[in-house]
Amino acid sequence: MILSAMARISGVIGWPVTHSRSPRLHGYWLQKYGIDGAYIAMPVRPVDLPTAIRALPALGFRGANVTVPHKEAALALCDEVDEMARRIGAVNTLVVRNDGRLVGANSDAYGFLENLRQASDWRAAAGPAVILGAGGAARAVGIALLDAGVPALKIVNRTAERAQTLARNLGRRATAVAWEKRSAALDEASLLVNTTSLGMTGQPALEIDLQKLPAAATVNDIVYSPLQTPLLAAARARGNAVVDGIGMLLHQARPGFEAWYGRRPEVDEALRRFVLGDTP
Ligand code: ATR
Repeated sequence: MILSAMARISGVIGWPVTHSRSPRLHGYWLQKYGIDGAYIAMPVRPVDLPTAIRALPALGFRGANVTVPHKEAALALCDEVDEMARRIGAVNTLVVRNDGRLVGANSDAYGFLENLRQASDWRAAAGPAVILGAGGAARAVGIALLDAGVPALKIVNRTAERAQTLARNLGRRATAVAWEKRSAALDEASLLVNTTSLGMTGQPALEIDLQKLPAAATVNDIVYSPLQTPLLAAARARGNAVVDGIGMLLHQARPGFEAWYGRRPEVDEALRRFVLGDTP
């Protein structure tokens, strides 16, 4: 695609960003919809983040995604922050408004829930959910699940204090569970979500016994490298419905794309395969 002088520009700010799949993802949509626009990777050191973010409106950018390790720091650098970003305590989508003001948003909870709903028959009312992990991803997933109406939420984390802090922040329906009790915590769960880095390529395996997990429960791993984590393989082997992690990435990208380029993009199997690298 040859860009005109009017091309709409956005991208992803991270450090490092070499491995980000977002340029491939947005590039696919830009081409598919024939949009005069570009989406680039922007490696920005933490020390340079304020300068880089403040420069976006001045440079005529439509906005940007923000990824690791900048999501929390970006919150304080926006002119305005929407309610979801404030609740999650992090920004993953920046939008430059027509008046030049920079608005911070967060589409991680939306992306998580959209993917879960599209890829499974899970219903919030079916029973308690268990989240492994208590970092930024766990917070977004927890908010999504509570907003969707889960009756109870168990937060299981290696560092007990982080689980307790998150559970307290999320409110009455959330409770902290000790990491050692993770297998027992699956009793009665209708959903298990792994938000830890365990099972990711180069990381230790997630050790958990699924014996107590009800057969009707859905298991969602937000790790997508590899796509079939040992957790998902074990869940599938015993008959549980499984949801892999790439869909959350695809769905969280949609609100940003729509804000920058004026078209609501679709998530389909061809996109999924392209972003995973199966097609050139
Ligand atoms: P993110 O913001 O992407 O969720 P994070 O804040 O670094 O990332 O969180 C990573 C999660 O993986 C944490 O819940 C972490 O547990 P701790 O809070 O105890 O650090 C979890 N995690 C990482 N390595 C782990 C390991 N070896 N065993 C158990 N949990 C692990």
